[in-house]
Amino acid sequence: MMETKIKTPDFSHITSEDLEHIYEPSEDTFLLIDALEKDLELIVNLKPSLCLEVGSGSGVVITALGTSLGSGARYIATDINPRACHITQMTGERNGVHISAVNTDLVTDILPNVTGCVDILLFNPPYVVTPHEEVGQGDLEHTWAGGHKGRQVMDRLFPIVPLLLSRTGVFYLVAIRENDLDDIAQVMKGHGLSCEHVISRRAGPEHLTVLKFCVESD
Ligand SMILES: C[S@@+](CC[C@H](N)C(=O)[O-])C[C@H]1O[C@@H](n2cnc3c(N)ncnc32)[C@H](O)[C@@H]1O
Repeated sequence: MMETKIKTPDFSHITSEDLEHIYEPSEDTFLLIDALEKDLELIVNLKPSLCLEVGSGSGVVITALGTSLGSGARYIATDINPRACHITQMTGERNGVHISAVNTDLVTDILPNVTGCVDILLFNPPYVVTPHEEVGQGDLEHTWAGGHKGRQVMDRLFPIVPLLLSRTGVFYLVAIRENDLDDIAQVMKGHGLSCEHVISRRAGPEHLTVLKFCVESD
């Protein structure tokens, strides 16, 4: 019988000093892992060969997926923060998952190599509503500051998603109510992707949801 639980990776190597620069695994991180766990059978049946996490931070999400899927798939992570890339790589190593971590804006430097090949795409973006000027001001601002409607960073990825995904590819996105989930679904529909709510949870003032997007068949 298939293992349907996803193990939380060991991230005890991450120091308090690291956490002054990278995102500490939090409710949103674990909600994304829970969404993957909920869909694990479906994900395994897709037989993914390439999994990509944009904005991997500590690397616990892509590592969690990697420990469940094993070495049959390739794992790539990107982050705009070089320290997050280094820690992602270490988190993978510590848990037996080989991750290629690339320091880039969204997928800029890897796009030609992954176009049409991504089977599982993950993004827990900076989603907090902030003034426009706060976006991208420093390592920690990068982790949460999302500008207008909290959409400034994720909106830049949306048009690229259909280019990245394979024919059966799936995109998992963390969002909060203020990001306007109905509007996100409409925008993605315009890019040929259907939207489903996988899991929602309230965490303090945040109403978190993991959305799943699939390529719409003709
Ligand atoms: C909310 S944190 C999520 C971190 C991790 N995935 C998790 O779930 O714990 C957002 C991450 O996106 C990264 N990030 C922000 N803007 C980015 C960009 N333009 N390109 C790549 N990564 C970005 C941040 O550095 C941060 O690591």
